[in-house]
Amino acid sequence: MAKVRKNSFAFGGGAFGDEGKGRVVDKFVSDFAKKKPVVVYRDNGGSNAGHTVEFESGERLALHQLPSGVFVPKAIVLLGRGMVLHPADLLAEISQVESIMGEEVKNRVQIDEMAVLSLDTHRAFEAVLKQWQEGGRGATGRGIAPAYADILLRHPLRASDLVSFDKEKFRAHFRFYAALISGLGEKLESLLVPRLTGEKVLVGTEKEFLDRLKEESSHLAPYIGETFEKLKKNWVDEKVVFVFEKAQGVGLDARYGVYPDVTASDVTFRGIFSSTEGIVSPEEIAVRAAVIKATYMSSVGSRNLPTEMEESLASRIREDAHEYGATTKRPRGIAYLDLPALKFFARVGEVNALVLTHLDIVYPGVPIKVCTAYKIDGQEVSYRPYQSFLDKVRPQYIELPSWDCRKVSQAKTREELPQEALNFLDFISRELGLPIVMVTTGPKREQAILFNP
Ligand code: IMP
Repeated sequence: MAKVRKNSFAFGGGAFGDEGKGRVVDKFVSDFAKKKPVVVYRDNGGSNAGHTVEFESGERLALHQLPSGVFVPKAIVLLGRGMVLHPADLLAEISQVESIMGEEVKNRVQIDEMAVLSLDTHRAFEAVLKQWQEGGRGATGRGIAPAYADILLRHPLRASDLVSFDKEKFRAHFRFYAALISGLGEKLESLLVPRLTGEKVLVGTEKEFLDRLKEESSHLAPYIGETFEKLKKNWVDEKVVFVFEKAQGVGLDARYGVYPDVTASDVTFRGIFSSTEGIVSPEEIAVRAAVIKATYMSSVGSRNLPTEMEESLASRIREDAHEYGATTKRPRGIAYLDLPALKFFARVGEVNALVLTHLDIVYPGVPIKVCTAYKIDGQEVSYRPYQSFLDKVRPQYIELPSWDCRKVSQAKTREELPQEALNFLDFISRELGLPIVMVTTGPKREQAILFNP
């Protein structure tokens, strides 16, 4: 059995992403960073993620490639080799964060030189692919799958390529995607691709693409370097607090999610092992918490969830909990809590704890419906990640009493939570066989209660 390392925490989406991980990590890291050195590490995904952090002032900022630990002064932020990075969007994001945190951010963000690049060519290819295949339709359009596909096709561009800037390598990359896209009937240089800021930009000619990239690489190069040895040294020093901030959720994993709404990176805690080149094994991380919404589930994409809610309650929740995609602004589908699915995600995701968010999303006199089992033809069955299977299951529900949401949003300690909420939390924890380490009670940074600090 692997030895558990002190001061190590990982947070990942326990369902379909958008569970509120960003602010959970932000709260967690800011509490710890007061006392100890902190490293925040992100191992998967890229600009497809959307972590919204809301400040005391009411200001909201959606992060995509930077983990939310970046808002904690002094925390070292590592973008791991398991990520795919878009240089222009990353620079824009760093400058947004700088406008809030000041220039010191520059000294804390480090990019693993082996992280893979996700460029406008990938975004353009994905847009064209959408017209040809069902699978790409739900993607965020950020070129994530094509960038990961480059790895399997043995021709990824890495962050280190931005530093050395071998023009021929980037030229070959551009020509490869131009040829693919031309084979599909489009012209790479005249395609528009989305940017973080919302505008669409033209990919442009090979020369324009190379010039833009060259300019971006000169700004990004200072952040890029060797992180392996530093990571190894810090990991063995147990005084350093490690926080692993994952993106997306286990329900979006290409192996464990439901097609076509799956993403390309390893969204399980196992992904940390490959991103850190074996330095950090998930078994050694003391707390591996799945972040889930306490009273309901939400998802973007085309999947039909077995526990989809009736629209009257779903639309109420959507407005109250702001259930619109942080990256694409799409309205999210809302479903009752589905314990068979969550059990499956926790097991394959190597989860050992829970964080429950949105504990304030309840309505007076409206009991909380929870699916505790699935049946097909009267026989109980487990969750399996195929739409054709899920279309056949009949969810079995129980109803639990709701509570006073105002009391929850004002609670500062576990003891101040209403008894019905505590009973509900105990029920979920027992059913999933996992301890709860934190709950959030409203959207503000301070509306969070640590259960087992
Ligand atoms: P991709 O990650 O852009 O390839 O998109 C694949 C699928 O994952 C789509 O259904 C997306 O909506 C979904 N997805 C990707 N990232 C996120 C996220 O951070 N939150 C929720 N869904 C996501």
